[in-house]
Amino acid sequence: MTQQGFVLWMTGLSGAGKTTIALILEKELHARGVKIERLDGDVVRESLTSDLGFSAEDRRKNIERVTFVAKLLSRNGVGCVCSFISPYQSVRDHVREQTTNFLEVFIDAPLEVVMQRDVKGLYKKAIAGEIPNFTGISDPFEAPANPEIHIRTDLETPQESANKIIAYLEKAHLID
Ligand code: ADX
Repeated sequence: MTQQGFVLWMTGLSGAGKTTIALILEKELHARGVKIERLDGDVVRESLTSDLGFSAEDRRKNIERVTFVAKLLSRNGVGCVCSFISPYQSVRDHVREQTTNFLEVFIDAPLEVVMQRDVKGLYKKAIAGEIPNFTGISDPFEAPANPEIHIRTDLETPQESANKIIAYLEKAHLID
């Protein structure tokens, strides 16, 4: 069957596991011959949006530029695996409107758990006041009101989470 484009939009706190799951998905979908592109906050912020910071306005611009890319890809049969904190529901709703086959995936773990993990050491710095506007500490995160997929990374492994997402894509007939 001709591949349909889609947007797997992973939203969640820093350290919740968005990139880890995205990397597994990228590998699995490639292995199945699905055309995909991965768009990730930490990567995009070194190129396409390297001029932006973390004010509400800059976060909105960050997602607006990525949305432009995801829109072009998804309407041309490419699957986009996107991992961005994207803390505002209104901004995520806008991505949904602009793109083809948008799926909101909440990569969820309690704040205490991601603070405990502190993979990049950023929570420690944010609590010490060294990083302003840090999501979950000194900046808001609006949990998705109605996500297509809700993943609890404190309760399952990254591979289990990726399997659930693949199963959803199959059921939605977005992949074979
Ligand atoms: S978003 O809010 O605009 O969607 P994005 O996903 O691109 O954020 O970037 C988040 C990454 O930037 C985090 O994983 C972290 O490594 C880094 N970062 C640096 N400063 C902040 C901050 N103030 N709040 C959140 N993440 C930050």
